[in-house]
Amino acid sequence: MLRIGVLVSGGGTNLQAIIDRIEDGYLDESRIVTVVSNKENAYALERASKHNIPFEYIPKKGKSSDEYDGALAEHLESRKVDLVVLAGFMHILGPGFIKRFENRIINVHPSLIPAFCGKGCYGLIPHQKALDYGVKITGATVHFVEANADAGPVIMQKAVSVFEGDTPEILQKRVMEEAEWKLLPEVIRLISKNKIKMEGRKVTILD
Ligand code: GAR
Repeated sequence: MLRIGVLVSGGGTNLQAIIDRIEDGYLDESRIVTVVSNKENAYALERASKHNIPFEYIPKKGKSSDEYDGALAEHLESRKVDLVVLAGFMHILGPGFIKRFENRIINVHPSLIPAFCGKGCYGLIPHQKALDYGVKITGATVHFVEANADAGPVIMQKAVSVFEGDTPEILQKRVMEEAEWKLLPEVIRLISKNKIKMEGRKVTILD
């Protein structure tokens, strides 16, 4: 059984997508053992509570980034987490945390990396940038997490069309529905079945 810790900061629709796929049996070898938020009133925590999943609010206030990462890592280790899933988690994890969970942290990002990503590019911003640039296709990426924001090896991507009249909000909803909520459970399933191999930056999906 793959023990998952999901880190969140907001609405938690990606968390919900994972919960739904565990409950419908698609993620038959995965279990969410903790949901952690750095925001006290993140709706994601209510989603966890509704599904009887243990959740925790770990505040950043009064802690340095290193101390905060240490508190997070301790909590996740105490729950024996195998895989850390960043699902809209708005805090950049430092190298110490990444080393402790080496190759065991994944993130979902709402663009086709390397476009519209990096420090400060999160939430609605990648969609605003995609519209400003005028791209006709955008999408979502699930990748392993490294010390530089959005720079780790890409595991899977899915393209989504941009249409005339799109606003960042409309595009965000389409990218979530058509890409993020599908990709993230798919990658977790592959990891739970040991179907992902990484050599350097190259990620291969085994059949
Ligand atoms: C999602 O679109 C996710 O890809 C994005 O924040 C949103 C969270 O929504 N993450 C980033 O931009 C990280 N760079 P959710 O709380 O409803 O899952």
